[in-house]
Amino acid sequence: MNKPTPDPHDIIDLIADIFERRGAEAYAGEALTVAEHMLQAAALAQAEAAPDTLVAAALLHDIGHFASEFGEYSPEDTEDKHHDDSGANLLVGHFPPAVTECVRLHVAAKRYLCATESAYYDTLSAASKHSLLLQGGPMSAAEIDAFHRLALHQDAVRLRRWDDSAKVAGLRTATFESFKPLLQRVIVRI
Ligand SMILES: [Fe+2]
Repeated sequence: MNKPTPDPHDIIDLIADIFERRGAEAYAGEALTVAEHMLQAAALAQAEAAPDTLVAAALLHDIGHFASEFGEYSPEDTEDKHHDDSGANLLVGHFPPAVTECVRLHVAAKRYLCATESAYYDTLSAASKHSLLLQGGPMSAAEIDAFHRLALHQDAVRLRRWDDSAKVAGLRTATFESFKPLLQRVIVRI
């Protein structure tokens, strides 16, 4: 059976609603909110003239922190909630793989960089170092090989670097509203 074509307004409205209602929540262990963090990541992507799909991925990469709204997890869940997968799964069917798979891989990219760049680990925030342990620690050699075989692994690494840098308390950024036209363009490309 064919999947119904998603209404682009529905998913953008859903995401806008999440940003509005939940975005002001603290970003666990960091000195800024989740919305500020994701907007800063998108701004960093734009500053490097990244393609729209990668800007969208940066903007939405942590949307999975709110995935419990969608009934994917039980209250018994603790520790790592796999926000990478839940965020990507929320977006699949609305956004192309260039967005969804970069969202899905942004934690793997941290594990990859920890295994392949000796200085990278020390650049991580304390919260990100802690979550690394819950996420499996640095990749093994076999995991690195598998990661290299993924078509989007380099984009995922780019996103990861913006993610790590997008933690500046008090930095002013563009609003979520201002990214709506970009999201609309990316959705239409499916
Ligand atoms: Fe993040």
